[in-house]
Amino acid sequence: MHWNPGYAAVAVTGAANLPHRMDPLEQLKRDVPHRIDSATTIAELDEIEAETVGRRSPIAEARRGLGAIADPAQRGVTGKAINDVAVFLSAQIDVRRGALESVEVNARLQADRADVTLPGRVPRRGTHHIIQQTIDEIVDIFVGLGYQMVQGPEAETDFYNFTALNIPKTHPTRLESDTLYLDYGDGDEEVLLRTHTSPMQARHMEEHEPPVYIVVPGKVFRSDAIDATHLPVFHQIEGLAVDDNITFADLKGTLAEFTRQFFGPDTKVKFIPHYFPFTEPSAEMHAYTQGKWIELIGCGMVNPAVFENVGYDPNTLSGFAFGMGADRMAMVRHGITDLRTMIDPDVRTLEQYR
Ligand code: DAH
Repeated sequence: MHWNPGYAAVAVTGAANLPHRMDPLEQLKRDVPHRIDSATTIAELDEIEAETVGRRSPIAEARRGLGAIADPAQRGVTGKAINDVAVFLSAQIDVRRGALESVEVNARLQADRADVTLPGRVPRRGTHHIIQQTIDEIVDIFVGLGYQMVQGPEAETDFYNFTALNIPKTHPTRLESDTLYLDYGDGDEEVLLRTHTSPMQARHMEEHEPPVYIVVPGKVFRSDAIDATHLPVFHQIEGLAVDDNITFADLKGTLAEFTRQFFGPDTKVKFIPHYFPFTEPSAEMHAYTQGKWIELIGCGMVNPAVFENVGYDPNTLSGFAFGMGADRMAMVRHGITDLRTMIDPDVRTLEQYR
């Protein structure tokens, strides 16, 4: 829109009648566009609008003064001039309002925005306990050698824990000082917390035909006070191989291979005679690792008496069995010297063995 400069000569208000004062409409036209442009909020713009073109504005006042102009032609020119200023300013105000509205909407949208680029809170990473890790690793090695993993009950009967394994009634491990009895059942059916994983040998052979190649990981319980080398709850991994023609050479080869896979290919092993009621002959396998010989695995050829107890024919079958402590294997592997580390719930301890 083009401003008609002709209006400036027209006196519409008292002030404008003073020759040294600028016409208020002219003043509006000169000053207000700048204020409109620099308004930063809609509220501010509303104020400018009220002040300049609203009901109490100089424009409204000028319109009210129109009636006092007697000459209709002059009144028409002046009215048009006032209107032109009003339209001119209103148009600018509308443009600015549109711009400020979109700025405010954007600001609100911005404030409401969920910033999906924020990194999430990373939960503390959990891990398997060192004993479980060790059990998994040991079982994996035997699975690689063709064994199957099975598990048995932790509450066991006297029969499977002792009698089936050829452990005589008079054996000291049956004493309450060694075994935790559950005060339930009598004789062979007396229930106790298994003192080793060996009972699963008998349970498995009773239920399955040979050949048998199993490993049995699990918790075992003994009536021991806690110290650096004893816990009343610990973990064992039992092994049993029964087939047509198993010899002590198979036992040695299998356990030597396991030890090399677990501790490293150069690990030496030796077998020292020992006694277990359920194996004959029996041995202890020691491994040379970390600069010393360490007793690791109890083992031996399955005692024919055990085969008889489970209904296997000792004349046609032979086999070997072995048992090792999972906690002990974990300690040797990680250089841990105090067994109580295994039950330390401090996350700083646990985090060292991921
Ligand atoms: N059951 C024995 C123990 O708890 C460990 C063991 C020794 C298991 C020799 C066996 C074995 O199968 O042949 O001390």
